[in-house]
Amino acid sequence: MIHSVKLENVGVAPYMDLDFLPRLNLITGDNGLGKSFLLDVVWWILSRKWPAQLNSHLSSGAMARPLVAQKAARITFTLDGKRHSTKTYTSTYDRRDQAWEGRQGRPLNPGLVLYAMSDGSFAVWDPARNYWKTKGNADIQEKVPAYVFSANEIMYGLSKPNEYPKEVWLCNGLLRDVETWRLKHNLAWQQFTKVLKKLSPDGEEMCIGEAKKVGADEELYVPTLETPYAPAVPVIYASAAIRRILSLAYCLVWAWQSHVSASEEIGQEPEKHIIFLIDEIEAHLHPRWQRTIARALVDVVNSLTNQAETQVILTTHSPLVMAGCEDFFTSEKDQWLDLDLVDRRVQITSRDFEKIGTADQWLTSDAFDLKSTRSPGAEQLLNEAAELLKVQPSRQELEDMDTRLSLILHPMDRDLFLWRYQKEKKEAEI
Ligand SMILES: Nc1ncnc2c1ncn2[C@@H]1O[C@H](COP(=O)(O)OP(=O)(O)OP(=O)(O)O)[C@@H](O)[C@H]1O
Ligand SMILES: [Mg+2]
Repeated sequence: MIHSVKLENVGVAPYMDLDFLPRLNLITGDNGLGKSFLLDVVWWILSRKWPAQLNSHLSSGAMARPLVAQKAARITFTLDGKRHSTKTYTSTYDRRDQAWEGRQGRPLNPGLVLYAMSDGSFAVWDPARNYWKTKGNADIQEKVPAYVFSANEIMYGLSKPNEYPKEVWLCNGLLRDVETWRLKHNLAWQQFTKVLKKLSPDGEEMCIGEAKKVGADEELYVPTLETPYAPAVPVIYASAAIRRILSLAYCLVWAWQSHVSASEEIGQEPEKHIIFLIDEIEAHLHPRWQRTIARALVDVVNSLTNQAETQVILTTHSPLVMAGCEDFFTSEKDQWLDLDLVDRRVQITSRDFEKIGTADQWLTSDAFDLKSTRSPGAEQLLNEAAELLKVQPSRQELEDMDTRLSLILHPMDRDLFLWRYQKEKKEAEI
């Protein structure tokens, strides 16, 4: 588990200090305030590699840079290693080397780490496969430092770079693995079906069917997705939402399966801790799905093992994700961190997670800071109407405003009724 991160002169703010709780950590904040950046930093803390350093296809996940180049920049973090030893480290930015310095050697083992980025790329750090040794003062990284996939590589597989002419696969990819699992009907298949069921939207369970050959001139067999509304669709043609959740389910099962078998190989017990970082969890999902996805993610690891605890850190722009957490959120294990711009500085605050109620109310809460959830035109006109009631309007002015409001608002709109009630009171005063 990661406990805390302190950033000095890095990223968006001169200083940022945040603590994490053991189960769900929700991060909200306006565009550009550094939500994705914070997840990149957490991933780096846990794996000691920036995602983009390991895969040039990625459009995000670059190394963190100091805010002001001339000043010292530091990242301090506290996390639990194996056997619950809690350690704090500070890493300093070396301007000359343009790199983060710190303790050499393999990172402290926080458990299995998974990171779903907002563009559909995915990263896995597996303590049984990605650790490295230190010899003397040098890090001898004989192992792959982490598995970082672009969205396409999740589907088609991830190969080791520079192995020409042979192709060395680090991961077979969803298309090949899922079909193999289905044919073998093995444990991975059972887990994959359970995970998919868990992550499916209410009442619309996703099921994988027999692979189909796609096109006449290619030897490509693609697993299909069975849906209630269409014949089985090859997963490469599935919708963006389905592909993201399928990829997430596949990466989770692949990472866990590979971890268990690598642990067996090296004579270790599988990890009891999983850290799951997810950027923009609602990406592409219909509101119905947004409402259930956070809960599903907190619980999904139980479909793989009931021996591991999961810490989830996710970012969201969705009021439905926040509202959907109300029925299970508990302040002992879960928290909400909110990024805001205060006096032109980005600040992070751990806010009380109150049961606000509806998604509409979440939109006007501190999480999203909207003044109104209406169209800007309707909002402006209602403000004008409120101003008109403060002065001494003529009957004609009241009638004109009433006409304008009735053109822009629904005839049963609550605010239209309120306006008419106040208008009548004003008319009585004239
Ligand atoms: N590698 C980096 N080094 C230093 N600063 C960075 C780095 N990456 C991002 N930032 C800072 O973070 C800001 C944007 O952060 P980020 O993409 O995390 O925002 P966000 O909150 O995720 O926004 P959105 O909601 O649009 O996804 C940039 O404007 C930049 O100031
Ligand atoms: Mg972002």
